[in-house]
Amino acid sequence: NWTPASFIHETVDALKKQIGDAHVIMALSGGVDSTVAATLISKAIGERLHGIFVDNGVLRKDEFESVLETYKNIGLNVTGIDAKQNFYDALKDKTDPEAKRKAIGKLFIDVFQEEAAKIPEAKFLGQGTIYPDVIESVSVHGPSVTIKSHHNVGGLPEKMHLSLVEPLRFLFKDEVRKVGLELGIPSDMINRHPFPGPGLAIRILSDITEEKVKLLQQADDIFIKSLKEYNLYNKVWQAAAILLPVKSVGVMGDERTYEYTVALRAVTSVDGMTADWAHLPYDFLAHVSNEIINGVRGINRVVYDISSKPPATIEWE
Ligand code: XMP
Repeated sequence: NWTPASFIHETVDALKKQIGDAHVIMALSGGVDSTVAATLISKAIGERLHGIFVDNGVLRKDEFESVLETYKNIGLNVTGIDAKQNFYDALKDKTDPEAKRKAIGKLFIDVFQEEAAKIPEAKFLGQGTIYPDVIESVSVHGPSVTIKSHHNVGGLPEKMHLSLVEPLRFLFKDEVRKVGLELGIPSDMINRHPFPGPGLAIRILSDITEEKVKLLQQADDIFIKSLKEYNLYNKVWQAAAILLPVKSVGVMGDERTYEYTVALRAVTSVDGMTADWAHLPYDFLAHVSNEIINGVRGINRVVYDISSKPPATIEWE
């Protein structure tokens, strides 16, 4: 019978056998899967796991620093790479969602390869692939039908001639979470909502500038912190603030404003394949709207997305 403890025990043994005295490199995203996978590999080979965490400039507010801090506390050997400017340059003037994804995916691979080249002793590439990814990449994201190019680091192993280490390949998300808690990873990290690889770039529905990223980070931060404050964070599957390319008129004191609109998106779901918009309480929505409009200069209107998936998607791009 499967228990998190027995899984950890058997997996660490298997990883020791598979990896031997070689080194492993791994891209970490701050998400549950890569963190749990890295912690298992680290338990097997310690400092011979080289994690790489890239600041692509479209992470959440303060996320780069706080995630690095968590990795440090878990005891992972991780290098943080600030590549913000490279990503802003690559994203400049891009408005098409798939073009944004491609630009981010390609630059990510470049940055990762450059770092990996500094660790020539690495023979393996660690990945946080879980069972639904394995199925999904066959059914939805096969070569002929790509609905959205979700797999941001696809192509990495082929290019780098490394063998894969995927300790979570046969687990479902709830099992990954149980294993993570058993490994002592903080529950904040384990219960995080999913966050897309292209990050806030696909939540800014126009071209990406550093100023727009800063605006959206502030609004998003207010939304997420408020969900936690009101004990709603764990009741929704994912939540996001979207910066619309729409300016509208408002008043602030005696002055007319003409500023951006933010859409709030929160959904309930089991696996992200279908989703219902979350029926959040009006007093909560009123609170978030006030905080954003009064606290973020540049945003004067907040709307709530009441579309379900399908036919809408969770993200707006
Ligand atoms: P949609 O918008 O397709 O989103 O309903 C379903 C789930 O997938 C996430 N998503 C992505 N994740 N790279 C990712 O890593 C992507 O390009 C991407 N696009 C969407 C989305 O956040 C949701 O959890």
